[in-house]
Amino acid sequence: MAASHIQAVLFDLDGVITDTAEYHYLAWKKLADELQVPFDRHFNEALKGLSRMDSLKKILENARPEPSFSKEKLSELADRKNEYYKELIRQISPADLLPGIHNLLEDIKERGIKTALASASKNAMFVIDRLGVASFFDEIVDAARIQHGKPDPEIFLTGARKLDADPAFCIGIEDAEAGIQAIKAAGMFAVGVGTPENMKQADFLVEGTQDLDFEKIESAFLLKNKG
Ligand code: BG6
Ligand code: MG
Repeated sequence: MAASHIQAVLFDLDGVITDTAEYHYLAWKKLADELQVPFDRHFNEALKGLSRMDSLKKILENARPEPSFSKEKLSELADRKNEYYKELIRQISPADLLPGIHNLLEDIKERGIKTALASASKNAMFVIDRLGVASFFDEIVDAARIQHGKPDPEIFLTGARKLDADPAFCIGIEDAEAGIQAIKAAGMFAVGVGTPENMKQADFLVEGTQDLDFEKIESAFLLKNKG
């Protein structure tokens, strides 16, 4: 393969492939309300991409007085949020794929470029199955085996290694700042879906998934690698 060719595309799931980012928010909101901890959409932005336990700890930092829960209690609260979340994702179907994603996956496949799912979610397999797109992915990184969550690059580097791809010729697609940081730390080209404030380090930015056009991404990648 020529050195300038993209070898692999690694996808975030929540907020990129489907709008489960909203369900994570609703489930955390329910838990935070029960615990009477302040929590709103603005604060939720900082949680996107973080693991379940990292998110919970960040939420609890806002509680006054700040509680010092045991490990068991923290895990009970994380489980409770997950039950709320699982209830919300039960009905997900192929109609919940975000606009442009099916086309993008097809375009990438047609070009023979490999794909991996690099989601921090332990529910990723369930969601991908429900969406009917599991067969598009050559690798699905198991979040349960990742030691360091985003913004650490581990999950993206693991995906690249499983695909036998050189990170310098990989594209990562993310909707969260922590995710973009993880992609950059992995030495990959970062495509951000969202607003410039949340995507400061993105190499290529689109407002929504409907604008994720593979040829445009490839041109931006080639331009960056030239200069
Ligand atoms: C990420 C989401 O993809 O997965 C986070 O952006 C979420 O909001 C994280 O906390 C972990 O998900 P789960 O399903 O394992 O609780
Ligand atoms: Mg996301």
